Amino acid sequence: GAAPLVDQFKRPISYLRLSVTDRCDLRCSYCMPEKMKFLPRREVLTLEELYELATGFIARGVTKIRITGGEPLVRRDIVDLFTALGRRIGHGLEELTLTTNATQLAQHADALAKAGVRRVNVSLDTLDRDRFAALTRRDALPQVLEGIAAAKGAGLSVKLNAVALKGVNEDELPDLIGWGHSEGHDVTLIEVMPLGDIEEERLDQFLSLGDVRARLEQRWTLEDIEYSTGGPARYVRIAETGGRLGLITPLTGNFCAGCNRLRVTATGQLYPCLGGSERVDLRAALRSDEPERKLAEALAQAMMIKPEKHHFRMDERGAEPAQPRHMSMTGG
Ligand code: GTP
Ligand code: 5AD
Ligand code: SF4
Repeated sequence: GAAPLVDQFKRPISYLRLSVTDRCDLRCSYCMPEKMKFLPRREVLTLEELYELATGFIARGVTKIRITGGEPLVRRDIVDLFTALGRRIGHGLEELTLTTNATQLAQHADALAKAGVRRVNVSLDTLDRDRFAALTRRDALPQVLEGIAAAKGAGLSVKLNAVALKGVNEDELPDLIGWGHSEGHDVTLIEVMPLGDIEEERLDQFLSLGDVRARLEQRWTLEDIEYSTGGPARYVRIAETGGRLGLITPLTGNFCAGCNRLRVTATGQLYPCLGGSERVDLRAALRSDEPERKLAEALAQAMMIKPEKHHFRMDERGAEPAQPRHMSMTGG
């Protein structure tokens, strides 16, 4: 078989984040504008192309695939992709998973579990219905909570992702963590990243997780633990809740040295780093007359251009966004 992917800094690539759509039924303010313009469908890879790409990556050493969006579950027939990829688990693939807003998870949880998904990451920034509606611009918290319950019912492990936002959910983070842990879920806090049309508001909302941690430590005992999912989170155990809390610190911490990831957009653009505009066109390779050779060339190119680290900054007013691409395009 072909050689495993290793970048120029000798980092093995084992984790693929594959976006299957740029569409979403929510409009989280840190992710996209209210009037988001979505891609015409012909631009987006077909389910067959997504499968072909994914298996190509598995052949090159990828053991973990996370399906992202936009919102992956808004794509029609997406469960078919999970079912097809689920058959590769144990044959190179070790983990198949997704990141979802959970609005439609109740309908799909059983099918996902049956396909071989064991763990899902759910974006949930608040448990307050009005706040949720303000933040996501849709009144969908009840469906999301149903989706989370259904995932648990289907035997899936759930990790809740909360973007920490000053003046938005800052005061609620202990409650969110406490609730998640009481339900048996892991919880991860994320520093907001400057992606998309960055407005002044978002700069004002930035919250350092070092500060959040210090405040949590006034209430709880946090103990660093070795647990890792192969993602960027560093985990602690909270003695009082017994639960795990992940901290993702793209702005204040550096996890890039251990980066094992690539991300591919729904149009087949491979971004070797979330915080950069360099990319490689896998769709062109896939749709060429020599897909296998062109794909191998494109992946070799990706290994050359994967940067040592990202360069997100939240400090400079009026600075260009580090990345004008919306999060919903790159899938995080
Ligand atoms: P697991 O570790 O498998 O649970 O997943 P994950 O945390 O890698 O994935 P998830 O989709 O839940 O992403 C959580 C947050 O981490 C999102 O805000 C992502 O954008 C962010 N993230 C994931 N990988 C990277 C990365 O390589 N660089 C940066 N800057 N952020 C990342
Ligand atoms: N900064 C940090 N995290 C973000 N997410 C979306 N946009 C941003 C941003 N600008 C998170 C979502 C989701 C994950 C894929 O990325 O909350 O959980
Ligand atoms: Fe949709 Fe996720 Fe973006 Fe929110 S963060 S608008 S749920 S893709």
